[in-house]
Amino acid sequence: MTDATTADRPAIAVLGAGKIGEALLSGLLTGGRRADELMFTERHRERSGELTTRYGIRGVDVATAAKEAGVLIVAVKPQDIDPVLDELAPAVGRDTLVVSLCAGLPTSLYERRLPEGVPVVRVMPNTPMVVGEAMSAISPGRHASAAHLETVEQVLGTVGLVVRVPESQQDAVTALSGSGPAYFFYLVEAMIDAGILLGLPRAVAEKLIIQSAVGAAAMLARTGEHPVTLREAVTSPAGTTIMAIRELENHGVRAALLAAIEAARDRSEELGNAHKTG
Ligand SMILES: NC(=O)c1ccc[n+]([C@@H]2O[C@H](COP(=O)([O-])OP(=O)(O)OC[C@H]3O[C@@H](n4cnc5c(N)ncnc54)[C@H](OP(=O)(O)O)[C@@H]3O)[C@@H](O)[C@H]2O)c1
Repeated sequence: MTDATTADRPAIAVLGAGKIGEALLSGLLTGGRRADELMFTERHRERSGELTTRYGIRGVDVATAAKEAGVLIVAVKPQDIDPVLDELAPAVGRDTLVVSLCAGLPTSLYERRLPEGVPVVRVMPNTPMVVGEAMSAISPGRHASAAHLETVEQVLGTVGLVVRVPESQQDAVTALSGSGPAYFFYLVEAMIDAGILLGLPRAVAEKLIIQSAVGAAAMLARTGEHPVTLREAVTSPAGTTIMAIRELENHGVRAALLAAIEAARDRSEELGNAHKTG
C-alpha cells in the first residue's frame, strides 16, 4: 500500500478501462475522489494515454495496480478474463478486494484462480453508468465481508443505485437491469415509429417520446408511487389511453415481456455455466 491508500479510503484500480471502466473512473472523480487515488490498466498504449490526458489518472500494469490499490475493479469483457487472472494471481493478497463487473463470471472462478482468502464481490452493472444512473446489483463471494460490501456500495454509489442480492439471483438481475436499458430503447424506438406513422416529423416524435420516457422514469423514481397507480391516473373512462392499453393487451405485450425476460435469464444461466467448472 502506498500514499494513494488510506485506511478508510483505499486506492482504486480499474482493470480494463473501456466503456464501463471509464464511466466508473469519471464518476469517481465527479464523486470527489482525487485522481491520485485512482489508476487503471489498459492493453493499448494509445487508449491509456488518452485516458490519462482526459482525467489525469495513471495507467499502470496489473502488478502495480495489485500492489498499490486496495480495491481492484475488473471491467474487461468476460472472454478476456483469463490473462487478467493469470497476472493477478501472483500479485494479490487477502487485503485486496477484487470486484468483478464481468457479466456471467461467478465469484467461484476468481476464488479458484486467486490465492486462498482473497475477497471477491460480483457486480452486475448496466450501461446508464455512463450518465451516472447505473443500476448495480452486488453479491459477495465466500471471503467477502459486510465491510467489503459497504466499500463496493460506496464506490458504485457514485455512479448510480446499488442493491445487494444473493449470487444465485444474478442471472435474473442480468435479464432485468443488465439488459433492461435495451428493452426501454426498443420501446422508445417503436413509439417513435408510431409517431412517424401518425405523420409527425421524426425530430418531433423523438423529442416527445424521449422526454415522456424521462418524465415517466422520474415520476416512478421520485414519487414512490406504484406504476399501476401512475398509469390509472392517466387512464380516464372511455379515453384515449385505455384504447391504447386494450391494443397492448390484445397483442400480448405483457406476456411478451415476461417471456422475453425469462429467455434472457435462461441465456445468462447458459453462458455462466461455461465458467462454473474447469
Ligand atoms: N456494457 C454493458 O451493458 C455492460 C453491462 C453490465 C456489465 N458489463 C460488463 O462490464 C465489462 C466491461 O464492458 P464494456 O462494455 O466496458 O467493455 P469494453 O468497452 O470492451 O471495455 C473493456 C476494456 O478492457 C480492455 N482490456 C481487455 N483485456 C485487457 C487486459 N488484459 N488488460 C487491460 N485491459 C484490458 C479492453 O481493451 P481492448 O479495447 O483492447 O479490447 C477495453 O478497453 C464486461 O465484462 C461486461 O460484461 C457491461
